[in-house]
Amino acid sequence: MDTLNEQQRYAASYNGKHLLVLAGAGTGKTRTIIARAKFLIETGVSPDRILILSFTRKSANEIVERISAELPETKSEGLTGSTFHSWCMSLIKNHPEIFPQASFTLLDEDDQESCFKLICGRHWKYKGLNDRTIKPDAILEVYSYMVNAMCSLSSAIRMKLYDNAPETLDVSKDNDVLKGVISMYLDYKKKKKIY
Ligand SMILES: Nc1ncnc2c1ncn2[C@@H]1O[C@H](COP(=O)(O)OP(=O)(O)O)[C@@H](O)[C@H]1O
Ligand SMILES: [Mg+2]
Repeated sequence: MDTLNEQQRYAASYNGKHLLVLAGAGTGKTRTIIARAKFLIETGVSPDRILILSFTRKSANEIVERISAELPETKSEGLTGSTFHSWCMSLIKNHPEIFPQASFTLLDEDDQESCFKLICGRHWKYKGLNDRTIKPDAILEVYSYMVNAMCSLSSAIRMKLYDNAPETLDVSKDNDVLKGVISMYLDYKKKKKIY
């Protein structure tokens, strides 16, 4: 606690139910999370009631290791660190009463890419507005962005194929690409059902 500044200390020892800490890169968020977990454990919260989630396994593990290292041995036993993705996955698998889809397969990035390559292989001819050939991995990136950001296809194209170009770039002129992309996405959806 004594290595934290005032705001970090406030967050680490916060007593309410929900707390959102928003701060830029390198400003001490991770240090705050570590201090928060330590504080909770030292004040009697069982480590198995604490869940550390991050976007990468490496950073989740690192946080858990640092918390353990700063506490006396066995004090942090049961503390879990995981990625958002794998934690959600285990939630789905372990609770069929809530998530009844009995069996499903996850496609990792390589699977997705081979899937798109298969689809693109048959009718690949798309050139973008700047006459650059648009490759399957770029199409996959557009698709992923559109789904994750819940935005329109034209916004995703502007963002991913044209380097976040301003809205004045009219991607509807990219008619072949738009049509091609849409038909590929439909193929992709069908293909996913077969897996
Ligand atoms: N209160 C503080 N005083 C001195 N150094 C700090 C403080 N908080 C964080 N740091 C250091 O700043 C760097 C970035 O901190 P980190 O917690 O990793 O930031 P973030 O997770 O926001 O990117 C680390 O080297 C960390 O040890
Ligand atoms: Mg960090």
